Amino acid sequence: MNEQKVKIPTIITIFGVAGDLSQRKLFPALIDLYNKGMLADQFRIIGVGRRGWSDDDLRDFIRKAIERKGSHHDEKTISQFLLLCSYAKGDFGDEHMYENVAKNITSIDKEFGLCTNKLFYLAVSPDFYEVILRQIAGAGLGELCDGTDGWTRILIEKPFGKDLATAEALERLLSELFKEEQIFRIDHYLGKETIQNILSFRFSNLLYETQWNNKYIEMVHLRLDESLGVEDRAKFYDGVGALRDVGQNHLLQMLAFVAMENPGGLSANEIRERREEVLRAIVPFDKHALVHNTLRAQYEGYQNAKDVLPESKTETYFLLKVFLDNARWRGVPFYMESGKKLTASRTDITIYFKDVVPCLCPSVNHVRHQNVLRFRIQPNESIELQFWVKQPGFHFILKPARLTFAYADSPDIAKIPDAYERILYDCIQGDQTLFVSTKEVELAWRFIMQISEGWQSAPLISYAPGSTGPLERMQILPENIID
Ligand code: BG6
Repeated sequence: MNEQKVKIPTIITIFGVAGDLSQRKLFPALIDLYNKGMLADQFRIIGVGRRGWSDDDLRDFIRKAIERKGSHHDEKTISQFLLLCSYAKGDFGDEHMYENVAKNITSIDKEFGLCTNKLFYLAVSPDFYEVILRQIAGAGLGELCDGTDGWTRILIEKPFGKDLATAEALERLLSELFKEEQIFRIDHYLGKETIQNILSFRFSNLLYETQWNNKYIEMVHLRLDESLGVEDRAKFYDGVGALRDVGQNHLLQMLAFVAMENPGGLSANEIRERREEVLRAIVPFDKHALVHNTLRAQYEGYQNAKDVLPESKTETYFLLKVFLDNARWRGVPFYMESGKKLTASRTDITIYFKDVVPCLCPSVNHVRHQNVLRFRIQPNESIELQFWVKQPGFHFILKPARLTFAYADSPDIAKIPDAYERILYDCIQGDQTLFVSTKEVELAWRFIMQISEGWQSAPLISYAPGSTGPLERMQILPENIID
């Protein structure tokens, strides 16, 4: 994470190049890296898809993707970048397509006069993972040039499986075909600057870390709210639901960063092991906890959305009250909440400290005088601390005040890389710190499965689009939660 980085000759092959992910995330991130001079001169992109496109069609598509993102790149940069991209047509199950890709790669290697490193990005539905992975391995795409020169890496996106059994099957397949150091499992939340900053905030400052435990912290609220609904993603989303879509991964990773022990170093192993420990410490949900500490809901109108089954029981919202069984956190509730079609899109983590006892706090209307620390992951990226000051005047009255670090006010703002820039760059560098380990995938599924299995007989309540969620959430969340 902190080593001096060199530019590494790389060919990225993107499967599913015409899809939403490459359009919205990958190409804007790649051109940003290119523009910042972070890619080697020997760099190429091969886009693979089923459409009958030419290289120029792909380049048009990329240009539009860059423009849609609000390009700040000049025409010269864009045109030079587009020349690095070429297209390969074919079905994912068709071995001729892989021969064709192999030919393209070999001719690029010849042009560069070296065995270029190869990165295969599976920007496709997980249903295609097996066929593509087998074809990549079977076509010898990993060993195009002999000897020890050059690496081959595989980038796959969550969801890693649909449940524990399919995740284990995927892991078996991956380990049969590739070595662990070749596999980069993406949870793009790990690539977010604001998530990584939790580590520096916690472990580079004495002030908070000494209070970061059940003696001083009353509760933690982790929230990933979205204002959009399922939009046109129901083919994927319906039957998956909010818990598996963002709970199994993004929210658990947020929990891991907040609750982990000091890794003692920045290596991938040190940080991943600390994250794994948190997942291992989650207290399993028994029947009582499933009823009283979880909530699943669906927004009104969801069943009428395109591609949603008419009687769909898929949840678009969930709330979990989670406990960790370790010395630091025993007894502290972590509320994990997420939903679509809510008031606003906002992801944040809020830490509520306990009251001072005895408190020099004249109580007005039973106001609690807590310190509250909020990490705003997005938007308005910031860290805010609420504390109490005396209201100027002759009486001893308290009022809340705030200390804020806002990224927008920082002179470094332009340097904040997008999560996908970070992911692509780290993968090229071979740094797996911000990628999910096979153990994390398994632990996360074990936790999620007991809830989703227990939920089969649980009621599915509804909530109004544009609200903060179902009214019943306040039966689980404490009154002093700040919305
Ligand atoms: C994705 C989920 O992983 O994360 C989406 O599949 C969700 O449903 C998205 O909208 C949220 O990511 P971000 O970066 O926009 O908060």
